[in-house]
Amino acid sequence: MKVLVIGATGEVGSELVKVLLQRGAGVRAFTRKQRKPGAFPDAVEMTRGDLGDPVSVAEAIKGVDKLFLLIGEENVPAELSQALTAYGLAKRFGLKHVTYVSVYKADQFPEVPHFANKYAVEEAIRAGGIPYTILRPAYFAQNERRLRPELTGHGVYPIPAGNQGLAVVDIRDLAEAAAISLTEEGHNGKTYDLVSSEMLRGPDAAATWSRLLGRQIAYAGHADFDGFEAQLREKGSPSWLAYDVRVMYQGFVERGFSNTEDQAARFAALLGRQPRTYSSFAEELAKEWAAA
Ligand SMILES: NC(=O)c1ccc[n+]([C@@H]2O[C@H](COP(=O)([O-])OP(=O)(O)OC[C@H]3O[C@@H](n4cnc5c(N)ncnc54)[C@H](OP(=O)(O)O)[C@@H]3O)[C@@H](O)[C@H]2O)c1
Repeated sequence: MKVLVIGATGEVGSELVKVLLQRGAGVRAFTRKQRKPGAFPDAVEMTRGDLGDPVSVAEAIKGVDKLFLLIGEENVPAELSQALTAYGLAKRFGLKHVTYVSVYKADQFPEVPHFANKYAVEEAIRAGGIPYTILRPAYFAQNERRLRPELTGHGVYPIPAGNQGLAVVDIRDLAEAAAISLTEEGHNGKTYDLVSSEMLRGPDAAATWSRLLGRQIAYAGHADFDGFEAQLREKGSPSWLAYDVRVMYQGFVERGFSNTEDQAARFAALLGRQPRTYSSFAEELAKEWAAA
């Protein structure tokens, strides 16, 4: 059984490739770039292409059995078109299963462009006729990797996470859930919320990082979304992405993005163990930074 992994060189996809190989699946990895020899295990078949070029997607799909579909954040303006193209070609070539990476509460933030795109893709997949699994991951614990300059330099926790708490998932658990959906029976037609038992609250995150880094870390707060959006642009985000991220956090603070214990328990049942938590990843990351 061979899986075409779209997004294979990214954070989630590279973890998924490892788990699929461990589970004995064949892997074809889709990428736009020529990789250096040795960048991927020999067992992985690399294939070049671009999601914006259906001819290259069709070539990559021919000869595989299943599709893992992840559209990277840089592609928000084109996500709907790119995802529907890959899905449509998977259908044309008779693939047996598609696993799609959506987002937690995709249906509840219609004002956020990437949520709206993902929900539209979900609906197309539900109606499309190929066996499918939809994964709805929450905030990635691994996002915190990007916060090193703010945390270790300025002493600020900059994410406007609010006080109610954001649902969190570790991408290694997301990759494992994806591998399970692609290599085991019983996940067809299912939509899974990928959420852990511990929420991310702005003030708590600042306290966690103060403890882990041994210095005072202040929570930047969630009162000034104009300022937050401007900062994202200053740090190099394209303005459409800064807008998207701003309305997302504003929505989270105003309407909540937390999860229930039942949702975390359902994810634990899928994994056969408790999902990793925000604090456990933060501890790993702090040790990694200290050792570097
Ligand atoms: N960050 C969060 O908290 C969070 C939460 C929930 C859901 N999500 C979702 O998770 C996804 C991000 O996953 P990630 O962090 O693994 O992404 P990532 O590390 O940014 O990787 C993006 C991948 O997409 C590939 N790619 C980009 N443009 C492409 C194109 N035109 N044609 C073919 N491949 C292309 C890249 O491959 P090459 O560069 O090799 O071509 C790369 O493998 C997004 O859909 C995001 O909305 C994120």
